[in-house]
Amino acid sequence: MRKKKAFLVVVTAGVLLFGGYFAAKQAGLIHTSPQLEEPPKLAEGLEEGSGNSGGELEGDAPGAGNSGEISVPDEPGGEEGGNGAGNGGGADKPEKDPTEKPSKGDKPGEGEGISRGENGAIAVIAQPASVTALVNPYNKLPEDYEPDDLDYPNVKFIFSDKVEKRMLREEAARALEKLFSGAEADGIYLAGVSAYRSHATQTKLFDRYVKRDGYEKARTYSALPGTSEHETGLAIDVTSSDGSCAAADCFGDTEEAAWLAANAVKFGFIVRYPEGKDKITGYQYEPWHLRYVGDDLAEELASGGLTLEEYYNAVPVAK
Ligand code: DAL
Ligand code: ZN
Repeated sequence: MRKKKAFLVVVTAGVLLFGGYFAAKQAGLIHTSPQLEEPPKLAEGLEEGSGNSGGELEGDAPGAGNSGEISVPDEPGGEEGGNGAGNGGGADKPEKDPTEKPSKGDKPGEGEGISRGENGAIAVIAQPASVTALVNPYNKLPEDYEPDDLDYPNVKFIFSDKVEKRMLREEAARALEKLFSGAEADGIYLAGVSAYRSHATQTKLFDRYVKRDGYEKARTYSALPGTSEHETGLAIDVTSSDGSCAAADCFGDTEEAAWLAANAVKFGFIVRYPEGKDKITGYQYEPWHLRYVGDDLAEELASGGLTLEEYYNAVPVAK
């Protein structure tokens, strides 16, 4: 009898503990970072052009104000985290030295980051330093990849600090300076919002969005750590020079967005996540996200109306 009672007490305590854990998790008190063990779900079922303004923006929305610096708080957890302690993992080894610098205007070579992610596989990009590398939900950067030629482009940003997110790789930084000057010559004034992110920063950012919006929704606008183009130092989010509509849907209606859509190609950039291609790229329309791919590839993509996935014949099979 006594044994039975003790048993009941233990079982009841177990149920209470378990229940408490789940309740805390539901309430967002316990949070676990998603792992890249299986291909992330793509943005299926997105309503195109829906008023979802949940773009990515580190820190809070910029304050209004029409002149001077716009202050945007730092990214979650501050600057410059180290890299995510790589476990090696023994996944696909790069065929070439991943730090090898591509020459300017490189066209993609054979096997360069191409993968369809078949059978649930996520490929590790063989040449992560290539300016033409395909980085997407099925093609991730090596755990410890860090660009070795980050530099500060001499252009306006919506914040004044000299921090990580102000940097781009050298070639992209110079191209961006030309793009901003070209825009100004046409009466278009731009500002950078967010460029390079370390693996650690992308991890913190993604975790924060998961906490805010849940995993499924976060995935439609933010890349899992290791699969963000921002980690390559070749991507930048831009907005109007007054900082309005930074990483928000309303940027799509601005003359700055129209100018970028028509002219970014002249400077080696593409608008990476175009409208109506969310099933292909995996992300909702981001008129602000520019990716440097070099003059030749940008030209080829623009003239064919292609995304990088289509160019590499790496369009994921819809489930
Ligand atoms: N917003 C894009 C998809 C990124 O997180 O890299
Ligand atoms: Zn972006």
